[in-house]
Amino acid sequence: MMLKWRFLSLLSATAIVAAARQQPFSQATAWDTYDAGLFTPVESLSALSTSEFTTFSHPLFPKHSARIKKTEWCDSTVPAYTGYIDIEAKHIFFYFFESRNDPAKDDVIFWTNGGPGCSSSLGLLMELGPCRVKNATSTEFHPESWNSNANVFFVDQPIGVGFSYAEYGEHVDTSEDAAQDIAAFVALFFENFPSFKNRAFHMSGESYGGRYLPLFASAVYDQNTQLIAAGLTPINLTSVIIGNGLTDPAGMTLAYYDFACTPASVPPVVDISSCVRMKKALPRCEKWLKASCVDTFDAMNCQAAADFCSNEIEIPFVNTGRNVYDISKPCEGEVADTLCYPVTKTIRQYLDQPSVRETLGVDPAVPQNFSSCNNDVSSAFYLAGDMLHPTEAYVGALLERGVRVLIYVGDYDWICNWVGNERWTLALEWSGRDAFAAQELRDWEVDGEAAGKTRAAGKFTFATVHGAGHMVPYDKPKQSLALITRWLAGEAL
Ligand SMILES: *[C@@H]1O[C@H](CO)[C@@H](O)[C@H](O)[C@H]1NC(C)=O
Ligand SMILES: *[C@@H]1O[C@H](CO)[C@@H](O)[C@H](O)[C@H]1NC(C)=O
Ligand SMILES: *[C@@H]1O[C@H](CO)[C@@H](O)[C@H](O)[C@H]1NC(C)=O
Repeated sequence: MMLKWRFLSLLSATAIVAAARQQPFSQATAWDTYDAGLFTPVESLSALSTSEFTTFSHPLFPKHSARIKKTEWCDSTVPAYTGYIDIEAKHIFFYFFESRNDPAKDDVIFWTNGGPGCSSSLGLLMELGPCRVKNATSTEFHPESWNSNANVFFVDQPIGVGFSYAEYGEHVDTSEDAAQDIAAFVALFFENFPSFKNRAFHMSGESYGGRYLPLFASAVYDQNTQLIAAGLTPINLTSVIIGNGLTDPAGMTLAYYDFACTPASVPPVVDISSCVRMKKALPRCEKWLKASCVDTFDAMNCQAAADFCSNEIEIPFVNTGRNVYDISKPCEGEVADTLCYPVTKTIRQYLDQPSVRETLGVDPAVPQNFSSCNNDVSSAFYLAGDMLHPTEAYVGALLERGVRVLIYVGDYDWICNWVGNERWTLALEWSGRDAFAAQELRDWEVDGEAAGKTRAAGKFTFATVHGAGHMVPYDKPKQSLALITRWLAGEAL
């Protein structure tokens, strides 16, 4: 789920630009201190305790370690684990569920929600996890969970999100920085639990994940060079899966016109006079965004363009009071309070129970009142200009290296809609571009019924999901599981 950046972009804040803050992992690590002989992996998850954390580390990552425990929670049919990856004073919380099918052979999926600043507990307890929250004190089994055929991680990232925390106010405010921590996390996990090494690894998420995941997957891919140099097994990065993503922010802004003023999804929802005004702003926005955000990146000019275009092209839709995540519905509750979905409040109440926190092993340093989405994190990303950067080129680069990419989009979502996503997937520069663009959209089916439209060529697949909003697995659990199952199996949709 993502939310804040659009609304934040309405505030006239001074653009503060974080200079390139990327700290390449290779330079942060003293390679010559690595000695394979000193390292003993944890080996077996089943040996872990439910009452206390087991700590694991690896000499290649001297600044990183992790705590993991067994957790009897959420899915009584499989073992679950929770823990923290500790990066000096920064601590990232994760949940891990084994597959309901064949955990010793099935693929591994990493999942993150978006925001920036939103907790993956939303994905877990509302969308694709093994259980869904039922009321403030209990959960219920979710039969269409993605762990039906895969081992699945849910990660609260970056620091400050969900149950993740920092000891001295450290923060992460760019996706590039977040990527370094995630890449180290992935390497640490596979080194310590080598039985998971020989299968496919998929990195998935939604919404702002459209920016996170191409960067995270690229960091994991590039890190492999260093793992190999150090005599370790590279991560078997097989695919990237993005649901209702924000990958091309400029293109998405323009697509808001199509979505609100044409029958791209439902009949036009904005009045004619506003649509005419929006249409007049389009050529100016296209030119300005391209010049300041895409062709070259001029932070202050790009922010000014984004603010202007947001006022002209987004506000008329927001003013309709429709759910920005599902154009077919009104917003239930206040966006700021419920994200338009009252179940998010139940999740908050549930995760604030002391007994649940104890079961999960949430560190006492984590503040008592749970936030589904952390405003400080989204503000920091906003001020760093992270939300303005196009990320498609990373997708093209991953495709060129044989990593499969699935872009799926619930067709009722306005905020990261299918029109904007289809456009960038068609325009993407990669060697399969012509073959991909030559494909017509065709129906894909579940139980003999059209579930959405799809286009695919080579390793690249685009798919819509009919009747789903921003959170596809929440609205269409059966279709979402069919989609992921076929994707993991390498089948056409
Ligand atoms: C939540 O559901 C459980 C299981 O059905 C029930 O026992 C409990 O009373 C409910 N709690 C609340 C607060 O409604
Ligand atoms: C990576 O995963 C694929 C798909 O499961 C598998 O066929 C392949 O052998 C794996 N490669 C390695 C090096 O483990
Ligand atoms: C945290 O939650 C408690 C109990 O719901 C409430 O009384 C308190 O005001 C909240 N604190 C903050 C800082 O929101």
